[in-house]
Amino acid sequence: MFSSKTDGPRRGRSFDSINKYYEEKQFNNEINKSSFNNTDEDLVKTLSSEKEHTAVVFSLKNEVGNLVKALKIFQEYQINLLHIESRRSRCSNSELEVLVSCESEREILTTIIQLLRKQMNDHTTDPLDKLCTPEDDIPEEPWFPKKMSDLDKCANRVLMYGSALDSDHPGFKDNVYRKRREFFADLAMNYRHGDPIPRVEYTEEEVRTWGVVFGELNKLYPTHACRQYLRSLPLLSQHCGYREDNIPQLEDVSRFLRERSGFTIRPVAGYLSPRDFLAGLAFRVFHCTQYIRHSSAPLYTPEPDTCHELLGHVPLLAEPTFAQFSQELGLASLGAPDDAVQKLATCYFFTVEFGLCKQEGKLRAYGAGLLSSISELQHALSSNATVLPFEPKVTCRQECLITTFQEVYFMSESFEEAKVRMREFAKTIRRPFTVRYNPYTQSICVLKDVPSITGMVEELRHELDVVGDALQRLNKHLGI
Ligand SMILES: [Fe+2]
Repeated sequence: MFSSKTDGPRRGRSFDSINKYYEEKQFNNEINKSSFNNTDEDLVKTLSSEKEHTAVVFSLKNEVGNLVKALKIFQEYQINLLHIESRRSRCSNSELEVLVSCESEREILTTIIQLLRKQMNDHTTDPLDKLCTPEDDIPEEPWFPKKMSDLDKCANRVLMYGSALDSDHPGFKDNVYRKRREFFADLAMNYRHGDPIPRVEYTEEEVRTWGVVFGELNKLYPTHACRQYLRSLPLLSQHCGYREDNIPQLEDVSRFLRERSGFTIRPVAGYLSPRDFLAGLAFRVFHCTQYIRHSSAPLYTPEPDTCHELLGHVPLLAEPTFAQFSQELGLASLGAPDDAVQKLATCYFFTVEFGLCKQEGKLRAYGAGLLSSISELQHALSSNATVLPFEPKVTCRQECLITTFQEVYFMSESFEEAKVRMREFAKTIRRPFTVRYNPYTQSICVLKDVPSITGMVEELRHELDVVGDALQRLNKHLGI
């Protein structure tokens, strides 16, 4: 294993202090690149042209004379070694890990690294072993849910509302409504992963409120909602009871979504932090409120309610491309620094909540905040609205407005385009690892060392085998 970084640990540092240094520096992507994909070009990129203090870590077969040979390379190039330390490899008992702190120009160091690599090839039995990164060299990543059941630990960290309402909430002075909200808050708080979502017997008043919202919005959908939304809505009527006189049950909706896109629903008492909410998306879990807005203002709600979730979010979550886009936003947030999570949350806000797209030359809405708000849906597609292309670098700086219309809306040509742009943006997030979702175990794999990456390569190889087999059979069938 090689890892080198001129911005790294200084003169006379030990393995322990290097580990500590990387913990402090969050062991950024650059070091990962040089550890795992260390082409010579990559290594050169990480080194500066001046003579600088540099740390090089490599592993050797633990045999007499190997370390001397390695160090002789430094001597031949007259490199002044400032500190040398060795320890038994954490990856292989037969290997030794060596840390050398030195002062060198980058060109010379690059040559030395090439020679060291050659020597390692000569002296190690398994070429993969030498690339193993000792666990201690990479700091533990910050906590985030790794299994879907871990969402139990963050789904109840409600920031706003829950059963307590602000003084400007339409239901603030209504004790019956407040009592009802307590009931919904308890349902959500007591929910655990794997439980069926409790069915709710909605009151006549709640159904009436839902009916007003449902009826008014349905008048606008044919001319304002995107194609994917319009495709899902009739299916939801058919399978989940989307009707003016019936509030669909979250459990039915969750089952429907699982079959369509792999998304499931989890009840929540109110607003979650962006980090906790986005973490759910990484598992294709969407946190949904189950209560209905106050009956005094059916066309207004200061917070997400189940009308917003069921009419705004659910139809799009049934679309596989949109589901993938949403999940990637969530995956990018896991273990990311706070400022990055904030940027991702802003991108989420201007896409999943207030996003526009262009279809057959016309603007259409796909954001749930628009598709559940009659006045803002009309405004966003009118000539009064400012619409810019969705570009995460720009969008993430836009202010999110909660109580008024947005000053700007962002438009994507397609979900595919939005996904590609978000994916590129996610690569710029400072994080010492990347993650992928394993749908079989419903868990997050942290890709931070060679064994985890090798495991993924094995899976990809199998997938490619399946593709190759399918193509071969198709060719045979077509007589090619
Ligand atoms: Fe929402």
